[in-house]
Amino acid sequence: MTRAASVLPPGFVWGASTAAYQVEGAAHLEGRRDSIWDVFCRVPGAVVDEHDGEVATDSYFRYAEDVAAARALNLGAYRFSASWARVRPDGGPVNRAGVDYYSRLVDALLEAGIAPWLTLYHWDLPQAIEEQGGWAERSTAYRFVDYAATLHDALGDRVRVWTTLNEPWCSAFLGYGNGQHAPGRRDARAAMAAVHHLLLAHGLATTELRRQDATATLAISLNLDVADPADPADPGDVDAARRIDGQWNRLFLDPLFRGEYPADVLAQTAHLGLTDHVRDGDLAAIAAPFDVLGVNYYHGQAVSHRPPPTPLHGLPSLARPVTSPLPAPEGIHRVPRGLPQTAMGWEVQPEGLTRLLLRLQEEYTGPAGVAMAVTETGAAYDDVVGPDGRVDDPERRAFLAAHVGAVQDAVASGADVRGFFVWSLLDNFEWAWGYSRRFGLVHVDYATQQRTLKTSGEWFAQVAAQGGLPWEERS
Ligand code: FCB
Repeated sequence: MTRAASVLPPGFVWGASTAAYQVEGAAHLEGRRDSIWDVFCRVPGAVVDEHDGEVATDSYFRYAEDVAAARALNLGAYRFSASWARVRPDGGPVNRAGVDYYSRLVDALLEAGIAPWLTLYHWDLPQAIEEQGGWAERSTAYRFVDYAATLHDALGDRVRVWTTLNEPWCSAFLGYGNGQHAPGRRDARAAMAAVHHLLLAHGLATTELRRQDATATLAISLNLDVADPADPADPGDVDAARRIDGQWNRLFLDPLFRGEYPADVLAQTAHLGLTDHVRDGDLAAIAAPFDVLGVNYYHGQAVSHRPPPTPLHGLPSLARPVTSPLPAPEGIHRVPRGLPQTAMGWEVQPEGLTRLLLRLQEEYTGPAGVAMAVTETGAAYDDVVGPDGRVDDPERRAFLAAHVGAVQDAVASGADVRGFFVWSLLDNFEWAWGYSRRFGLVHVDYATQQRTLKTSGEWFAQVAAQGGLPWEERS
């Protein structure tokens, strides 16, 4: 065994992630009805080249190929999400065909020896529920619990890891705040209401799943940020970093782990009325115990209270202008650090992941006895299919090696991390970027749906087989 492998705990899980709307397709087949993403994709200028998830990677029909790819990658787990609009179309009665699809997928995974990690909500609210107020409405939280229970009734005997929400920060602030994502609302008050109702949905569903299933592993995945002051000696920059941390991280971590919203964020956003939505007992409900904090990490950022001469780009150029997603963005500016960037314009900063995991361990998960898993990291690059049909992507391999190394460093220093999931198993519909950005370990030719393992995938299969990265591969 390599030295590195011995650092990771026994049973450390190597996986890859996808999400329903990004891969399934079959968007209006077999009973599925519109989600907010179907509707958003029809808004002119909302998605690059007016792409949509109507077909995506056709995984509703080709899931066996996806499972075969996961197997070729030696994955121990596959993290996928279920589409609420397929399971309970329009938020109404159960659609048997939809449930059966997930049942077939789960069986295929189990047959291949791959553990299904199911996320209940990865951004695709049934449109009918949005028309009744969406996440800005309290009732959506209760409807989410019903949906969670429906799926657990059908799959709970075989799915042992249940994640309530993926990145509620994005659902609230990109969906309701700056309109970059579905449902495309630009209403900071609605975004703050959505924060509370998403967290409430998580807490109530966690309690219900625990009631139904005492031994299930329950999780939530958050996109957390590592914000550093551009100039640590400048109190204005230090304060900008603190405010980012509040609006990105503590706004979610504090209620989940401590049953309270952070006072500084409440003060900065008092005009947006978050507390108007909080009823007696809500914060205790949100703080229901769970087992695994999923950490999604792509990059950190340096921030200043002064605008930089050259801003960082990282947004698709769309007809719909997009503003800051933060509820209180005044005096917070991202500053380029000259680090290498991915095709998303995201700076590559693996050491931020080590610091993030250690900070979480110390301040949140450790005291609560909650484990962590990196449920997403990965990179988009402009992959090219070579004349021999191979897709050689050394940059993605280097990105992943550096991030596996960052996790190993965190574990060596005491972080309780149990798994590493690459975003993504295969190229797919990258939200507002449509199909213009590729994150997969597996390349997809969208004209033919042909799947080809990239060289980063060949490499990752070895990492998964040997249980980690040999020390000498550390960058
Ligand atoms: C995350 C999302 C995932 C994917 C990656 C690149 O924020 O959870 O669906 O889009 O970013």
